[in-house]
Amino acid sequence: MLDALKDELLSLVNAAADLPALDEVRVNALGKKGRITGFMKELGGLSPDERKERGQALNALKDEIAAALDARKLDLAAAHMKARLEAERVDVTLPVRPETEGRIHPISQTMDEMIAIFAEMGFSVAEGPDVEDDFHNFTALNFPVGHPARDMHDTFYLPDADDKKMLLRTHTSPVQVRTMLNNKPPIRIVAPGRTYRSDYDMTHTPMFHQIEGLVIDEATNMGHLKGCLVEFCRAFFDVDDLPLRFRPSFFPFTEPSAEVDIGCLRKGGELKLGNYGDWLEILGCGMVHPNVLEACGIDSTKYQGFAFGMGVERVAMLKYGIPDLRTFFEADLRWLKHYGFVPLDIPNIAHGLTR
Ligand code: PHE
Repeated sequence: MLDALKDELLSLVNAAADLPALDEVRVNALGKKGRITGFMKELGGLSPDERKERGQALNALKDEIAAALDARKLDLAAAHMKARLEAERVDVTLPVRPETEGRIHPISQTMDEMIAIFAEMGFSVAEGPDVEDDFHNFTALNFPVGHPARDMHDTFYLPDADDKKMLLRTHTSPVQVRTMLNNKPPIRIVAPGRTYRSDYDMTHTPMFHQIEGLVIDEATNMGHLKGCLVEFCRAFFDVDDLPLRFRPSFFPFTEPSAEVDIGCLRKGGELKLGNYGDWLEILGCGMVHPNVLEACGIDSTKYQGFAFGMGVERVAMLKYGIPDLRTFFEADLRWLKHYGFVPLDIPNIAHGLTR
Protein backbone atom coordinates (compact mmCIF):
# COMPACT_ATOMS: atom_id res chain seq x y z
CA MET A 1 0.00 0.00 0.00
CA LEU A 2 2.82 2.35 0.83
CA ASP A 3 4.46 1.46 -2.48
CA ALA A 4 1.41 2.64 -4.37
CA LEU A 5 1.38 5.87 -2.38
CA LYS A 6 5.08 6.36 -3.07
CA ASP A 7 4.63 5.91 -6.81
CA GLU A 8 1.70 8.29 -6.83
CA LEU A 9 3.48 10.97 -4.84
CA LEU A 10 6.67 10.70 -6.92
CA SER A 11 4.74 11.10 -10.14
CA LEU A 12 2.92 14.13 -8.66
CA VAL A 13 6.31 15.64 -7.73
CA ASN A 14 7.63 15.14 -11.22
CA ALA A 15 4.47 16.47 -12.81
CA ALA A 16 4.53 19.75 -10.85
CA ALA A 17 5.00 22.39 -13.53
CA ASP A 18 6.17 25.26 -11.31
CA LEU A 19 7.18 26.11 -7.75
CA PRO A 20 3.64 26.87 -6.44
CA ALA A 21 2.36 23.56 -7.85
CA LEU A 22 5.29 21.74 -6.26
CA ASP A 23 4.55 23.36 -2.93
CA GLU A 24 0.99 22.12 -3.13
CA VAL A 25 2.28 18.56 -3.62
CA ARG A 26 4.52 19.03 -0.58
CA VAL A 27 1.64 20.22 1.62
CA ASN A 28 -0.59 17.38 0.47
CA ALA A 29 2.08 14.83 1.31
CA LEU A 30 4.06 16.17 4.26
CA GLY A 31 2.00 19.08 5.59
CA LYS A 32 0.04 18.96 8.87
CA LYS A 33 -2.92 17.40 7.13
CA GLY A 34 -0.83 15.65 4.51
CA ARG A 35 -1.24 12.02 3.58
CA ILE A 36 2.04 10.72 5.02
CA THR A 37 1.43 12.80 8.14
CA GLY A 38 -2.00 11.16 8.37
CA PHE A 39 -0.44 7.70 8.39
CA MET A 40 2.03 8.85 11.02
CA LYS A 41 -0.82 9.85 13.27
CA GLU A 42 -2.28 6.35 13.04
CA LEU A 43 0.90 4.79 14.44
CA GLY A 44 -0.31 5.32 18.03
CA GLY A 45 -3.05 2.74 17.56
CA LEU A 46 -0.69 -0.08 16.55
CA SER A 47 1.08 -2.72 18.60
CA PRO A 48 4.71 -1.90 19.46
CA ASP A 49 6.09 -4.32 16.86
CA GLU A 50 3.80 -3.13 14.11
CA ARG A 51 4.48 0.46 15.08
CA LYS A 52 8.21 -0.01 14.75
CA GLU A 53 8.02 -1.63 11.34
CA ARG A 54 5.40 0.75 10.00
CA GLY A 55 7.19 3.75 11.49
CA GLN A 56 10.43 2.88 9.77
CA ALA A 57 8.68 2.38 6.46
CA LEU A 58 6.84 5.71 6.81
CA ASN A 59 10.05 7.54 7.72
CA ALA A 60 11.82 6.08 4.71
CA LEU A 61 8.92 7.14 2.49
CA LYS A 62 8.92 10.61 4.02
CA ASP A 63 12.67 11.00 3.41
CA GLU A 64 12.37 9.78 -0.14
CA ILE A 65 9.52 12.14 -0.97
CA ALA A 66 11.33 15.08 0.71
CA ALA A 67 14.46 14.35 -1.37
CA ALA A 68 12.38 14.15 -4.55
CA LEU A 69 10.72 17.47 -3.67
CA ASP A 70 14.14 19.12 -3.13
CA ALA A 71 15.51 17.79 -6.39
CA ARG A 72 12.45 18.89 -8.33
CA LYS A 73 12.66 22.31 -6.66
CA LEU A 74 16.24 22.78 -7.87
CA ASP A 75 15.25 21.75 -11.39
CA LEU A 76 12.31 24.12 -11.45
CA ALA A 77 14.41 27.01 -10.08
CA ALA A 78 17.07 26.42 -12.73
CA ALA A 79 14.44 26.27 -15.47
CA HIS A 80 12.85 29.45 -14.14
CA MET A 81 16.22 31.26 -14.14
CA LYS A 82 16.96 30.04 -17.64
CA ALA A 83 13.61 31.30 -18.90
CA ARG A 84 14.21 34.69 -17.24
CA LEU A 85 17.66 35.00 -18.74
CA GLU A 86 16.23 34.21 -22.16
CA ALA A 87 13.35 36.64 -21.76
CA GLU A 88 15.38 39.51 -20.30
CA ARG A 89 18.23 39.21 -22.74
CA VAL A 90 20.21 42.44 -23.33
CA ASP A 91 22.34 42.81 -26.42
CA VAL A 92 25.43 44.49 -24.96
CA THR A 93 26.95 44.77 -28.42
CA LEU A 94 24.29 47.29 -29.49
CA PRO A 95 25.82 50.73 -29.95
CA VAL A 96 24.84 53.43 -27.47
CA ARG A 97 22.24 55.82 -28.82
CA PRO A 98 24.45 58.45 -30.46
CA GLU A 99 22.25 61.47 -29.95
CA THR A 100 22.91 62.43 -26.36
CA GLU A 101 22.19 66.09 -25.75
CA GLY A 102 25.29 67.06 -23.78
CA ARG A 103 28.58 67.97 -25.39
CA ILE A 104 32.15 68.11 -24.14
CA HIS A 105 33.56 71.61 -24.63
CA PRO A 106 36.42 71.72 -27.17
CA ILE A 107 38.74 73.07 -24.46
CA SER A 108 38.11 70.07 -22.21
CA GLN A 109 38.46 67.72 -25.14
CA THR A 110 41.70 69.34 -26.30
CA MET A 111 43.21 69.21 -22.81
CA ASP A 112 42.24 65.55 -22.50
CA GLU A 113 43.91 64.84 -25.84
CA MET A 114 47.08 66.60 -24.73
CA ILE A 115 47.12 64.75 -21.42
CA ALA A 116 46.63 61.44 -23.25
CA ILE A 117 49.73 62.10 -25.37
CA PHE A 118 51.91 63.31 -22.50
CA ALA A 119 50.70 60.48 -20.25
CA GLU A 120 51.93 58.03 -22.88
CA MET A 121 55.36 59.71 -22.62
CA GLY A 122 55.37 59.25 -18.84
CA PHE A 123 54.18 62.66 -17.64
CA SER A 124 51.74 62.99 -14.78
CA VAL A 125 49.25 65.83 -14.26
CA ALA A 126 49.95 68.54 -11.67
CA GLU A 127 47.68 71.37 -10.56
CA GLY A 128 47.92 74.71 -8.80
CA PRO A 129 45.50 77.43 -7.71
CA ASP A 130 44.08 80.09 -10.06
CA VAL A 131 44.55 82.70 -7.34
CA GLU A 132 48.29 82.92 -6.88
CA ASP A 133 50.74 85.08 -5.00
CA ASP A 134 53.41 87.22 -6.54
CA PHE A 135 56.17 84.82 -5.42
CA HIS A 136 54.89 81.79 -7.34
CA ASN A 137 53.69 83.69 -10.42
CA PHE A 138 56.73 85.96 -10.79
CA THR A 139 59.54 86.14 -8.24
CA ALA A 140 60.42 82.44 -8.06
CA LEU A 141 60.28 82.37 -11.86
CA ASN A 142 63.15 84.86 -12.01
CA PHE A 143 61.04 87.96 -12.67
CA PRO A 144 62.83 90.37 -10.31
CA VAL A 145 60.65 93.04 -8.69
CA GLY A 146 60.41 95.95 -11.11
CA HIS A 147 61.51 93.84 -14.07
CA PRO A 148 59.78 94.97 -17.30
CA ALA A 149 58.76 91.39 -18.11
CA ARG A 150 56.15 91.69 -15.35
CA ASP A 151 54.44 94.46 -17.28
CA MET A 152 54.07 92.24 -20.33
CA HIS A 153 51.58 90.08 -18.47
CA ASP A 154 48.66 92.55 -17.98
CA THR A 155 48.11 91.08 -14.54
CA PHE A 156 44.81 91.14 -12.63
CA TYR A 157 45.84 92.06 -9.09
CA LEU A 158 43.70 91.19 -6.08
CA PRO A 159 43.66 92.77 -2.61
CA ASP A 160 46.80 91.71 -0.68
CA ALA A 161 46.41 88.81 1.78
CA ASP A 162 48.69 88.44 4.83
CA ASP A 163 51.09 90.96 3.33
CA LYS A 164 51.27 88.84 0.19
CA LYS A 165 50.54 90.38 -3.16
CA MET A 166 47.75 88.26 -4.66
CA LEU A 167 46.81 87.95 -8.32
CA LEU A 168 45.10 85.72 -10.87
CA ARG A 169 47.87 83.60 -12.34
CA THR A 170 48.97 84.97 -15.70
CA HIS A 171 50.38 81.62 -16.86
CA THR A 172 50.60 78.00 -15.68
CA SER A 173 54.32 78.37 -14.89
CA PRO A 174 53.66 78.85 -11.12
CA VAL A 175 52.72 75.16 -11.12
CA GLN A 176 56.37 74.46 -12.02
CA VAL A 177 57.38 76.29 -8.87
CA ARG A 178 54.87 74.48 -6.67
CA THR A 179 55.88 71.12 -8.11
CA MET A 180 59.61 71.70 -7.59
CA LEU A 181 59.07 72.98 -4.05
CA ASN A 182 57.06 69.89 -3.14
CA ASN A 183 58.84 67.12 -5.03
CA LYS A 184 62.34 65.86 -5.56
CA PRO A 185 63.71 65.26 -9.05
CA PRO A 186 63.26 63.43 -11.33
CA ILE A 187 60.16 65.45 -12.20
CA ARG A 188 57.99 64.98 -15.26
CA ILE A 189 54.66 66.82 -15.14
CA VAL A 190 52.14 68.65 -17.30
CA ALA A 191 49.87 71.27 -15.76
CA PRO A 192 46.75 72.19 -17.71
CA GLY A 193 44.55 74.98 -16.41
CA ARG A 194 43.01 78.44 -16.51
CA THR A 195 45.10 81.58 -16.80
CA TYR A 196 44.12 85.26 -16.76
CA ARG A 197 45.32 88.48 -18.37
CA SER A 198 43.60 91.82 -18.71
CA ASP A 199 43.15 91.81 -22.46
CA TYR A 200 40.17 91.45 -24.81
CA ASP A 201 40.04 91.44 -28.61
CA MET A 202 39.73 89.00 -31.56
CA THR A 203 42.68 86.94 -30.30
CA HIS A 204 42.63 87.58 -26.53
CA THR A 205 40.15 86.81 -23.77
CA PRO A 206 40.68 87.74 -20.11
CA MET A 207 40.51 84.06 -19.16
CA PHE A 208 42.17 81.43 -21.29
CA HIS A 209 43.89 78.07 -20.86
CA GLN A 210 47.45 76.89 -20.99
CA ILE A 211 49.24 73.62 -20.55
CA GLU A 212 52.64 73.69 -18.94
CA GLY A 213 55.28 70.99 -19.13
CA LEU A 214 58.25 70.48 -16.82
CA VAL A 215 61.01 67.86 -16.85
CA ILE A 216 63.86 67.94 -14.33
CA ASP A 217 66.57 65.32 -14.18
CA GLU A 218 70.35 65.11 -14.07
CA ALA A 219 71.08 64.97 -17.79
CA THR A 220 67.95 66.35 -19.42
CA ASN A 221 68.95 68.57 -22.33
CA MET A 222 67.61 70.67 -25.17
CA GLY A 223 67.60 67.61 -27.46
CA HIS A 224 65.07 65.98 -25.14
CA LEU A 225 62.97 69.13 -25.24
CA LYS A 226 62.98 69.11 -29.03
CA GLY A 227 62.21 65.41 -29.27
CA CYS A 228 59.37 65.70 -26.78
CA LEU A 229 57.70 68.64 -28.55
CA VAL A 230 58.16 67.22 -32.06
CA GLU A 231 56.59 63.97 -30.91
CA PHE A 232 53.75 65.80 -29.18
CA CYS A 233 52.89 68.12 -32.09
CA ARG A 234 52.91 65.32 -34.66
CA ALA A 235 50.65 63.18 -32.49
CA PHE A 236 48.34 66.04 -31.55
CA PHE A 237 47.84 67.44 -35.04
CA ASP A 238 48.02 63.96 -36.57
CA VAL A 239 50.53 65.04 -39.25
CA ASP A 240 53.43 62.55 -39.37
CA ASP A 241 56.01 64.82 -41.00
CA LEU A 242 54.90 68.09 -39.36
CA PRO A 243 58.06 70.25 -39.22
CA LEU A 244 58.88 72.27 -36.10
CA ARG A 245 61.10 75.37 -36.02
CA PHE A 246 62.77 76.48 -32.80
CA ARG A 247 63.37 80.26 -32.80
CA PRO A 248 65.49 81.95 -30.10
CA SER A 249 63.30 83.94 -27.71
CA PHE A 250 63.21 85.26 -24.14
CA PHE A 251 61.44 84.18 -20.99
CA PRO A 252 62.87 85.13 -17.58
CA PHE A 253 62.50 81.56 -16.31
CA THR A 254 64.24 79.72 -19.15
CA GLU A 255 67.72 80.00 -20.63
CA PRO A 256 68.11 79.42 -23.49
CA SER A 257 64.52 80.12 -24.49
CA ALA A 258 62.76 79.37 -27.74
CA GLU A 259 59.48 79.87 -29.46
CA VAL A 260 58.24 77.00 -31.56
CA ASP A 261 56.60 77.33 -34.97
CA ILE A 262 54.89 74.56 -36.90
CA GLY A 263 54.88 74.27 -40.68
CA CYS A 264 51.77 75.43 -42.50
CA LEU A 265 50.29 76.74 -45.70
CA ARG A 266 48.10 79.85 -45.85
CA LYS A 267 46.02 80.00 -48.99
CA GLY A 268 42.78 81.81 -49.71
CA GLY A 269 41.90 82.25 -46.05
CA GLU A 270 42.53 78.54 -45.41
CA LEU A 271 45.25 77.16 -43.18
CA LYS A 272 46.79 73.74 -43.71
CA LEU A 273 49.37 72.16 -41.41
CA GLY A 274 52.39 70.37 -42.86
CA ASN A 275 55.71 70.84 -44.60
CA TYR A 276 54.76 73.76 -46.89
CA GLY A 277 57.41 76.38 -46.05
CA ASP A 278 55.24 78.79 -44.07
CA TRP A 279 55.30 78.97 -40.24
CA LEU A 280 52.91 79.51 -37.37
CA GLU A 281 53.93 80.11 -33.75
CA ILE A 282 52.34 77.78 -31.22
CA LEU A 283 54.35 77.65 -27.99
CA GLY A 284 57.16 78.90 -25.76
CA CYS A 285 59.82 76.73 -24.15
CA GLY A 286 63.40 76.52 -22.90
CA MET A 287 65.84 75.06 -20.40
CA VAL A 288 64.80 75.91 -16.84
CA HIS A 289 66.90 78.85 -15.59
CA PRO A 290 69.31 77.94 -12.74
CA ASN A 291 67.87 80.83 -10.69
CA VAL A 292 64.45 79.13 -10.86
CA LEU A 293 65.87 75.77 -9.76
CA GLU A 294 67.64 77.43 -6.81
CA ALA A 295 64.54 79.45 -5.84
CA CYS A 296 62.69 76.13 -5.72
CA GLY A 297 65.28 74.33 -3.62
CA ILE A 298 66.84 72.26 -6.40
CA ASP A 299 70.64 72.06 -6.75
CA SER A 300 71.31 73.65 -10.14
CA THR A 301 74.82 72.16 -10.28
CA LYS A 302 73.31 68.69 -10.22
CA TYR A 303 69.96 69.04 -11.97
CA GLN A 304 68.72 70.64 -15.13
CA GLY A 305 65.64 70.35 -17.25
CA PHE A 306 63.21 71.89 -19.67
CA ALA A 307 59.82 73.57 -19.59
CA PHE A 308 57.23 74.56 -22.14
CA GLY A 309 53.92 76.39 -22.16
CA MET A 310 51.19 76.38 -24.76
CA GLY A 311 47.84 78.09 -25.27
CA VAL A 312 45.04 75.52 -25.36
CA GLU A 313 42.51 77.69 -27.25
CA ARG A 314 45.06 78.47 -29.92
CA VAL A 315 45.86 74.86 -30.76
CA ALA A 316 42.18 73.86 -30.43
CA MET A 317 41.27 76.57 -32.98
CA LEU A 318 43.97 75.29 -35.31
CA LYS A 319 43.08 71.64 -34.97
CA TYR A 320 39.31 72.00 -35.18
CA GLY A 321 39.01 75.02 -37.46
CA ILE A 322 37.32 77.26 -34.91
CA PRO A 323 37.68 80.80 -36.28
CA ASP A 324 36.93 83.14 -33.34
CA LEU A 325 38.50 82.78 -29.90
CA ARG A 326 35.74 84.71 -28.13
CA THR A 327 33.09 82.14 -29.09
CA PHE A 328 34.73 79.64 -26.71
CA PHE A 329 33.31 81.49 -23.73
CA GLU A 330 29.96 82.76 -24.99
CA ALA A 331 28.16 79.64 -23.74
CA ASP A 332 26.10 79.45 -26.92
CA LEU A 333 24.49 76.02 -27.08
CA ARG A 334 24.30 76.07 -30.88
CA TRP A 335 28.06 76.64 -31.00
CA LEU A 336 28.66 73.87 -28.47
CA LYS A 337 26.45 71.48 -30.40
CA HIS A 338 28.49 72.22 -33.53
CA TYR A 339 32.02 72.24 -32.13
CA GLY A 340 31.55 70.10 -29.01
CA PHE A 341 32.34 66.41 -28.65
CA VAL A 342 30.07 63.55 -27.68
CA PRO A 343 30.80 62.36 -24.14
CA LEU A 344 31.94 58.89 -25.15
CA ASP A 345 34.57 60.18 -27.55
CA ILE A 346 37.29 59.84 -24.93
CA PRO A 347 40.77 60.70 -26.23
CA ASN A 348 42.99 57.65 -26.18
CA ILE A 349 46.23 57.00 -28.01
CA ALA A 350 45.29 53.44 -28.92
CA HIS A 351 42.15 54.18 -30.96
CA GLY A 352 43.20 57.60 -32.22
CA LEU A 353 42.63 60.86 -30.40
CA THR A 354 39.41 61.99 -32.01
CA ARG A 355 37.21 59.99 -34.29
N1 PHE B 1 54.73 80.87 -19.32
C1 PHE B 1 55.04 81.30 -20.67
C2 PHE B 1 53.94 82.22 -21.16
O1 PHE B 1 52.87 82.23 -20.64
C3 PHE B 1 55.21 80.13 -21.59
C4 PHE B 1 56.40 79.30 -21.25
C5 PHE B 1 56.29 78.25 -20.36
C6 PHE B 1 57.62 79.54 -21.81
C7 PHE B 1 57.39 77.46 -20.04
C8 PHE B 1 58.72 78.79 -21.53
C9 PHE B 1 58.63 77.74 -20.63
O2 PHE B 1 54.11 82.94 -22.11
